[in-house]
Amino acid sequence: MSVGIDEISFYTPNYYLDLRTLAKAKNIEVEKYYNGIGQEKMSMPGHDEDIVTMAANAAKPIIDHTDTSSIRTLLFATETGVDQSKSAGVYAHRLLGLSPNCRVVELKQACYSATAAIQMACALVARQPEQKVLVLASDIARYDLGSPGEATQGCGAVAMVVSAKPRLVEIDPDVGNFAEDVMDFWRPNYRSNALVDGKYSTKVYLHSLKKAWENFVHSSSLAFTNFSHFCYHLPFSRMAEKAHRHLSRINNSTLNLEAMTRQFEDSLHYNRVIGNSYTASIYISLVSLLENCKHDLEGKKIGFFSYGSGCVSEFFSGTVVSGYDKFLHTLGHQKMLAEREEVDYETYLALYHYPEYTDGEAHSFEAMTKGHFRLAGVNGHKREYVSC
Ligand code: CAA
Repeated sequence: MSVGIDEISFYTPNYYLDLRTLAKAKNIEVEKYYNGIGQEKMSMPGHDEDIVTMAANAAKPIIDHTDTSSIRTLLFATETGVDQSKSAGVYAHRLLGLSPNCRVVELKQACYSATAAIQMACALVARQPEQKVLVLASDIARYDLGSPGEATQGCGAVAMVVSAKPRLVEIDPDVGNFAEDVMDFWRPNYRSNALVDGKYSTKVYLHSLKKAWENFVHSSSLAFTNFSHFCYHLPFSRMAEKAHRHLSRINNSTLNLEAMTRQFEDSLHYNRVIGNSYTASIYISLVSLLENCKHDLEGKKIGFFSYGSGCVSEFFSGTVVSGYDKFLHTLGHQKMLAEREEVDYETYLALYHYPEYTDGEAHSFEAMTKGHFRLAGVNGHKREYVSC
């Protein structure tokens, strides 16, 4: 029986900083950002948005037409947890009106955990094909101002329904994993910004790709030439080029540069203008591929490389289902991106600095989001989410 991704929708907040503005403020050539790291814009959340509101907003277009009683599990993947104890998924569960008979849990391993969620969801559905699993992945990528990582910030969320006989992408059971205890990117509990050894992290990413691929071919009958397209974890879009060149070299690929680029370029469109969204990024890259590839992808094999610093990585594969294009949310996604508001450098700084709310007093946040859900305030250390 086939299992996989039945529906997918993403959300990103309504503000963005053009990296031209950042380049000007830092006196850096814009080509470094636009070409060197391959990023044009970064989404910025308003003060009334967080991983919960973004995830609920990503899921809403799906939930609006889904029989929610069929969703028996909600898996919430994030690096940007808002509570050490309570799963962000429990807030999203209420906002989305899901059944009380639903299992809800949060998963963490830097940018990788949405892939763990997908694999767990496939296993649950294989055991009970009548049930569906809602996978939410939501993150806000934040680095210190003035650090090399600053230009690779961003935020976004993705919602995916995993089911039997999926309408979009069947996920194959064979995977390749690689894990190693390294300090390339991490965020101690007392910090809201990630710490990163940037250049080292890209090296670990490529090393993990090689190792996960070697483990994949050990168990799968698929070879590199069986794949027509690839989706990579995208901390910045240029990373896909580095990764794909690396994997092509490992496999002695005879494709020329143009043909090689065609295998990943359509997966980059949305991430280039959203920025890093950690757990969500590889799945937003899948949406980008499905919605922007001019060729019919029916029956095509997609290779996925999911990477989470620290590090855990996985190479896995999927097959695009016939008629997939009828079940995409392309117009909604493109409208959302087109209607975002560009901010100037001062507004970016104001958005970057969250208001202080950790004293236990009552704090309310200005209504800034154009989404359906917002964080209205924090009162007595309790987060108060509302529908708009
Ligand atoms: N025109 C065109 N290109 C230019 C340029 C110009 N004027 N100036 C510089 N460049 C190029 C450089 O040549 C370089 O290209 P190559 O990689 O091909 O050599 C590229 O722009 C980047 O410039 P630098 O090498 O000077 O790099 P930097 O010091 O700005 O740092 C970075 C880049 C390490 C990615 C940094 O942005 C960073 O630390 N980002 C956060 C960490 C990260 O994203 N790591 C990725 C792997 S870890 C992961 O995947 C998990 C995760 O989500 C974080």
